[in-house]
Amino acid sequence: MRKKLIAGNWKMNNTPAEAKALINSALPLLKGAACDVAMCVPAVDLAIASELLSGSGVMLGAQNMHWASAGAYTGELSAAMLLAVGASCVILGHSERRQYFAETDETVGKKTRAALAAGLLPVVCVGELKEERLGGQTDKVVTRQTRVALDGLTSEQTISLVVAYEPVWAIGTGLVATDEQANETIGVIRSVIKDMFGESTANAVRILYGGSMNAANAAGLLAQPEIDGGLIGGASLKANDFAAIVKAAS
Ligand code: 13P
Repeated sequence: MRKKLIAGNWKMNNTPAEAKALINSALPLLKGAACDVAMCVPAVDLAIASELLSGSGVMLGAQNMHWASAGAYTGELSAAMLLAVGASCVILGHSERRQYFAETDETVGKKTRAALAAGLLPVVCVGELKEERLGGQTDKVVTRQTRVALDGLTSEQTISLVVAYEPVWAIGTGLVATDEQANETIGVIRSVIKDMFGESTANAVRILYGGSMNAANAAGLLAQPEIDGGLIGGASLKANDFAAIVKAAS
């Protein structure tokens, strides 16, 4: 049995003061969660979030990192920096980073290998554009993204990461993939992992769904056999909504 994971992706929202208020209202509601929970916050919120989440069982995550360990990379953060401030996971290859910041399958792969080597849990995002789904290219796109991101990893490393399937057309649009669409494409991703690393690895890897997941549709998505949790954008910014999704997964 794969333990479900509900991870909030705050994106570019919340100052440290706002982060404090949100975490303080969410934590009491998350007590007793029977699934894993993570909050992936902006870099400037990591320190305060680390302090507030300490001892709560909620994992702290970042939203990006560089693959190099240090150097002349203005504006970037290393895995060691994230770990030092208390993060234990990091979102990599989010479609917004691919779309607006020129992330490629190859850079996502480099980041994934660097995060694992440093001991961070990578949440590797894959997902097709609307045109790609309409053109029947979904399986091909997620297969390529998954293959390149996981290239060169061992089975042990693969088991210790999380993949998030986020169809780009469903992100922030209110257009959620149907339970069946999400389940089917996650099944395709799992079969790619099986092809690369074997059946037991594929059966152990957690694959999340992300894209307009909310308190109302979470239970249906999470009941699907292939869906091991959610990567939550908008609904993670409201303590009650996030807690309701965690409850649906518990
Ligand atoms: P929304 O839940 O706001 O659609 O965002 C999903 C997402 O991109 C999470 O990483």
